[in-house]
Amino acid sequence: MNKYNVVRNTKYDYTGQSYSSVYPNLHRYPATMIPQIGIDILKEFDISSGNMLDPYCGSGSSFICGLECGIKKMSGFDINPLAVLIAKAKFTKLNIKEVEIAYQKLRNSVFEMMKNEKHLKKIHVPEITNIYFWFSDTVVKNLSVIKYCIDELENEKIKNIFFVPFSETVRECSYTRNNEFKLYRMKPEEIHNFNPDVIGYYFKKLSDIIQCYKLYYLPKLKKNTSIKIYSEPFKKGIKGYDLVLTSPPYGDSRTTVAYGQFSALSNEWLGISDARKIDSILMGGRRVPEIMKDNCIADSIRKINNVDSKRALEVSSFYFDLKESINTVAKNINIGGTIIYIVGNRTVKNILLPTDQFIAEVFEENGFKHLITYERALSNKAMPSRNSPTNIAGKTVNTMLYEYIVVCKNTG
Ligand SMILES: C[S@@+](CC[C@H](N)C(=O)[O-])C[C@H]1O[C@@H](n2cnc3c(N)ncnc32)[C@H](O)[C@@H]1O
Repeated sequence: MNKYNVVRNTKYDYTGQSYSSVYPNLHRYPATMIPQIGIDILKEFDISSGNMLDPYCGSGSSFICGLECGIKKMSGFDINPLAVLIAKAKFTKLNIKEVEIAYQKLRNSVFEMMKNEKHLKKIHVPEITNIYFWFSDTVVKNLSVIKYCIDELENEKIKNIFFVPFSETVRECSYTRNNEFKLYRMKPEEIHNFNPDVIGYYFKKLSDIIQCYKLYYLPKLKKNTSIKIYSEPFKKGIKGYDLVLTSPPYGDSRTTVAYGQFSALSNEWLGISDARKIDSILMGGRRVPEIMKDNCIADSIRKINNVDSKRALEVSSFYFDLKESINTVAKNINIGGTIIYIVGNRTVKNILLPTDQFIAEVFEENGFKHLITYERALSNKAMPSRNSPTNIAGKTVNTMLYEYIVVCKNTG
């Protein structure tokens, strides 16, 4: 029996629709929220103004929702630099003429560079862990030239949109199996036949991304809108928000969605130090000494502890972090403000973790009132729907078939 009311609402299923039904993303990103949810829920609660926060903004789908509903001021936070790069590229207003000039300049300098061995000598290969395990010599050389030439561009804002296809090229031209979020290498016979056209792929992707930005994002970026995106966790003391629209992670990166691993090669090529450590600093990445014993999640964690105490600690780690994060968020929301969290309830050791109930409870502890939780069928999220929560190879169960839209209000 749920303590906080959950209503099955088929309006939010969007069966047959995908992320790109409304706004194509500029770059693949795991577990993106389909913007339709945010747009419809904001409309349902008649929210069209105020200062909006997304404390785990990922590639920024919540900002599309805000823009569609007339919200002018928004801020986002994410620890993953790749996510921030994608979000900034989408929501930074650029002068298209200047982008086109930079495109030509980049093309000329890349081709000039490739023609001349002498020029190539001055290029520095970035520090990438096990670089030749993931890339061929030729790919490393081509990527290094593109990176060098983008770095040479003067306009920092324009550079962002040029680095987005660079990141896609890194992934596409590496020996990773591209349909996986985690880093797995191709089979030797696939590697043998793998000879990607790095420069061709990059410039094709760059044109597509500029086109997509021009069609779907730029027209929404009106003069009086402000979207600030930070590559850091949301902290105390940034007060004055009226609304939170967000989709937090479902669990720790190691056993759910490995955002850090998905982004590791791109982040390293983009020059992010500690790119390999991101998963351990994301929510649920730290070790905790004991299991969570309070809140409505405790009962499920106790059951997990009965069968696997290590897993119970890992799961607890996530909920301790989530609780701390909600406490911080709650303190920075104005009275009368609304929070909307879109989450999944995962299963560990076949035990369901009611994250939606936990979120409502922690907000209520902070003086908020739970208004409603909608249940929607999950049919279109770009994430693994089956995994091995028992950690027995080959034994999989459906972890999440539904998502929950939790809405609370700060009643003070
Ligand atoms: C479900 S994804 C958000 C997806 C986003 N709504 C989108 O459409 O792209 C969750 C995000 O939380 C980020 N994250 C995890 N722990 C975080 C933390 N402590 N602070 C900020 N962001 C965090 C991850 O990097 C990931 O991008």
